Amino acid sequence: MELIDGKKIADTIKQEIAAEVAKMINQGKKQPHLAAILVGHDGGSETYVAHKVKACEQCGFKSTLIRYEDDVTEIELLNAISKLNNDNDVDGFIVQLPLPKHISEQKIIEAIDYRKDVDGFHPINVGRMSIGLPCFLSATPAGIIELLKRYNISTKGANCVVMGRSNIVGKPVATLMMQKGIDATVTVCHSATKNIKEICRNADIIIAALGSPGFVTEDMVKAGAVIIDVGTTRVASTLTKSGFKLRGDVDFENVAPKCSFITPVPGGVGPMTIVSLMRNTLIAAQKVNFD
Ligand code: GUN
Repeated sequence: MELIDGKKIADTIKQEIAAEVAKMINQGKKQPHLAAILVGHDGGSETYVAHKVKACEQCGFKSTLIRYEDDVTEIELLNAISKLNNDNDVDGFIVQLPLPKHISEQKIIEAIDYRKDVDGFHPINVGRMSIGLPCFLSATPAGIIELLKRYNISTKGANCVVMGRSNIVGKPVATLMMQKGIDATVTVCHSATKNIKEICRNADIIIAALGSPGFVTEDMVKAGAVIIDVGTTRVASTLTKSGFKLRGDVDFENVAPKCSFITPVPGGVGPMTIVSLMRNTLIAAQKVNFD
């Protein structure tokens, strides 16, 4: 069994991006600039955004964090988005999800100029991805594909089971895995799927993105399978200063000995998600024309 070290790969890619930024600055171009809108004080969102801001520093990007309280109105957020859309210094921006219930996430996502949508959540980017056109790829799926490539994991003709059908992970990663050049045969499982254990036991690659800690157990995994764990549920822990730890969707301890490759949680997919966002911001700053 080989551990897929997402943190190490992410550090390498951040260095590659920083080298690109140094070249741009040498050519007299401006520093890439990522902005993030954070609403409220959800612990998970605070942590993710703090990691994104730190990654910007490591890549040589400028970053701007715009905060609102939970009672922000939809109109106020839409106005903030309009300002960022029109700010020539901002190359790309994200609105950290989830948002409070009184705000329509879809309306917010659709208000973002797709050319600055470095999360790849806008329907134009999602649509372009699904038909294989250049676009901003959603960060977690892009990070997973990059990990598979950098570990030379063969995907051609592989049976890939994606567990979960969210718009930000399950659906886009299933789309990417079946695309020409990646060439996996993809099955998507969700809460209404029958015989989930049997389906998983047939998988060469399992991508678990359910948000259900420890759901994937040893009896669901074929010997030699590749396991990508996207789960990051916060569970209480007396072992950490923060009082919680992150748990993946895979029963790591019992599943790992059976696999050929497996991602840990934390340190697997998470760091790659952030680095994919950095890559998208670099592309946005280089004003690559997708049209
Ligand atoms: N919430 C959980 N993951 C993400 C992400 O990749 N981007 C944004 N904007 N919010 C998230």
